[in-house]
Amino acid sequence: MEDSKQPDFKEQFYLDCGFATRALHAGEHVGQPHTQAHANPIFQTSTFVFKNAQEGADIFSGAQPGYVYTRLGNPTVKALEGKLNALEGANIKLADPNKRVASLAFASGMAGISSTLMACCSAGDTILLGDVVYGATEHLCSNVLNRMGIKTVEVDFANLEKVEAALKANPQTKAVLFETPVNPTMKLADIAAIAKLSHQLAPEAKVIVDNTFATPYLQRPLELGADVVLHSLTKYLCGHGTVVGGIVTTTNDKVKDELYKVIKDVGANPGPFDAWLVNQGLKTLPLRMDKHCTNALAIARHLEKHPKVAKVFYPGLESHPQHALAKKQMKDFGGMISIELKGGLEAGRTLMDNIRIFTLAVSLGCVDSLIQHPASMTHACVPKEKREKAGLTDGLVRLSVGIEDVEDLIKALDDALAKV
Ligand SMILES: Cc1ncc(COP(=O)(O)O)c(C=O)c1O
Repeated sequence: MEDSKQPDFKEQFYLDCGFATRALHAGEHVGQPHTQAHANPIFQTSTFVFKNAQEGADIFSGAQPGYVYTRLGNPTVKALEGKLNALEGANIKLADPNKRVASLAFASGMAGISSTLMACCSAGDTILLGDVVYGATEHLCSNVLNRMGIKTVEVDFANLEKVEAALKANPQTKAVLFETPVNPTMKLADIAAIAKLSHQLAPEAKVIVDNTFATPYLQRPLELGADVVLHSLTKYLCGHGTVVGGIVTTTNDKVKDELYKVIKDVGANPGPFDAWLVNQGLKTLPLRMDKHCTNALAIARHLEKHPKVAKVFYPGLESHPQHALAKKQMKDFGGMISIELKGGLEAGRTLMDNIRIFTLAVSLGCVDSLIQHPASMTHACVPKEKREKAGLTDGLVRLSVGIEDVEDLIKALDDALAKV
């Protein structure tokens, strides 16, 4: 947990190194005086020992750095937060060494999203939310935060005119939250343009980007002007499907301070073992993402020509309406593809029930390939009219393309499609 009371893990040292070097080294070799371990130890402890009463009082008051209790901070969690600071914020720090970048890890992506919205909004405030977002994010805003007097206005962030109109109509907006690419429609939002518009038209608004589909390897919203970037760690950042977790990174001190209060009082912190597993996964993030991207592009191109496929939604295809924006703000196009089969939902069901190698399961960003049906699974809690209006049709099937041999994945898709 990034807290001024705690020791600095020297992620600064790696700022001018490349992404892969930072993924391997930042937050590591933390120089704990009592261990010479090469790999980061797992500090699987709920509480920490004080040498004497004075030290306890000094650490509590912030006069001396140190750990108190794992809900308030833990060295293994801190190592993960240091790595994310270096991955999301290195270029920001290099451009302005005085700028602070802070990350806070959470027990799930949703714990990160809900805590961020609690940190930015109070009763009477407005959130501008993407018209398609992960189902639980939509549900959080329309069924939980609304009971607490926080209003949500939904906008298609792919359309800048609509974003501008919504900001003009709601200049008191406190949080602007969207995904890009959007789960599962694969629409994009122009982060730099939206950040500029939001800061001009709703000066108190914090621009919050859910970067789960892209990862900091492919897209860094803070560099494009966003105030907060967040991820479900459960996905690509862990990469192996072994953890549920979240991370929030911000350049805004006030957001960081409010967020720290929320995480410590709500108790939304991750366990040390989960943080350690994500740290392991992050070390291979660049290698994994390169393979996810090349596999996904080959599959998207193949499916686009397949006679049983009506539409392929993948930002790397020239046919994607925002391909130019994808090239501008992303390093590559990611591992997520949505498809619509000519036979609609029934055809999609036959594909999911017959495919080999791809596992029928929700979640995404694992090393192995997954397939799922958003309308009846990840986005089932979003009302049907709302889903259809925003392009999330019943016939849409989502693929999370893994790092297997791509020929095997294409053959598995072709064999299953032959049964449709
Ligand atoms: C884009 C996006 N954001 C947030 C979440 C929530 O993350 P978690 O399941 O780790 O709470 C998900 C989960 O699928 C997601 O896809």
